[in-house]
Amino acid sequence: MQIKILQPDDWHLHVRSGAALKSVIGMSAKQMGRAIIMPNLNPPVTNALQAQAYREEIIQALPEGDEIDPLMVLYLTDNTNTSDIEKAAKSGIVKAAKLYPAGATTNSDSGVTDIKNIYPALEMMSKMGMLLLVHGEVTHADIDIFDREAVFIDQVLTQVAHDFPELKIVFEHITTKDAVDFVIESNSNIAATITPHHLLANRNDMLVGGIRPHYFCLPILKRENPHQLALLDAATSGNPKFFLGTDSAPHAKDAKESACGCAGILSAHCAIELYATAFESRDALDKLEGFSSKFGPDFYNLPRNTNTITLSKESWLVPESYEYAGSVIIPFMAGQELSWKLV
Ligand code: NCD
Ligand code: ZN
Repeated sequence: MQIKILQPDDWHLHVRSGAALKSVIGMSAKQMGRAIIMPNLNPPVTNALQAQAYREEIIQALPEGDEIDPLMVLYLTDNTNTSDIEKAAKSGIVKAAKLYPAGATTNSDSGVTDIKNIYPALEMMSKMGMLLLVHGEVTHADIDIFDREAVFIDQVLTQVAHDFPELKIVFEHITTKDAVDFVIESNSNIAATITPHHLLANRNDMLVGGIRPHYFCLPILKRENPHQLALLDAATSGNPKFFLGTDSAPHAKDAKESACGCAGILSAHCAIELYATAFESRDALDKLEGFSSKFGPDFYNLPRNTNTITLSKESWLVPESYEYAGSVIIPFMAGQELSWKLV
């Protein structure tokens, strides 16, 4: 059996820079037409000039013959001003700006300490039609890590959505039923990306029988019921507010297998196969194309891709590891069997 769908895009991707970038960019290029490139480099991508330079570095790093269109994102800081936003919007290459609450995740030290600090920037984004992408977790030490997304909705996102009704917001990599409900109940300017690992795994996969650092990501995997199940419902519902964003976030094996391992899961090597697996588990393969290839560009006001990809029902083993910047990386589902393969 085969299924043919319009080529997907990845609306949330980390590709790093330098040697790491060279190791992973071909994986996405083989699957995706475009990718929203996360700006959490060190130092972060905070203005249009840096975004332009990073975009060129990505294109240069592509393996011979591979193509992908990198859509750039600015990293919002307490100091982002309206002129940074205006220049970025006018550059044509920057499609969105990302809110990382300070300290939320990898390289988020320069993130925003109080949402009010970026209200002028948000006002300008709203005016220029630039999307706001949010890492939706609060970072206060007293909030339990499993509650951080739900508390972010109550303490930050509800207010921002209320104060900027015209601003298009993508609630990135949602992980809870609370987030699914919030997005469904919000106006049409609020959408969400869902990762393959949050569809296919839950916290038991990470913690039962031993700690599995390669399942550690942020936002952290939640319980199966109600959270993972709500994500599967949302992704396969055909509701255009939910679309593909892998949050593929590579880190070398050593950095993850450590007393203080870092957060992030590599899924770019077989992203569309992972989504197909999740959709098939719900008998919803007919909903895969909307989620993967239509709702994302529609929300971003970009044309859909016109070329197609084919997935074939065929078993294969995911490699145990890949070369990564002179070291190795352990991919999601390493050594496991998948029953869909990109032709
Ligand atoms: C991401 C990374 O490593 O850059 N990690 C992750 O667990 N998702 C950062 C992020 O998106 O939070
Ligand atoms: Zn991310």
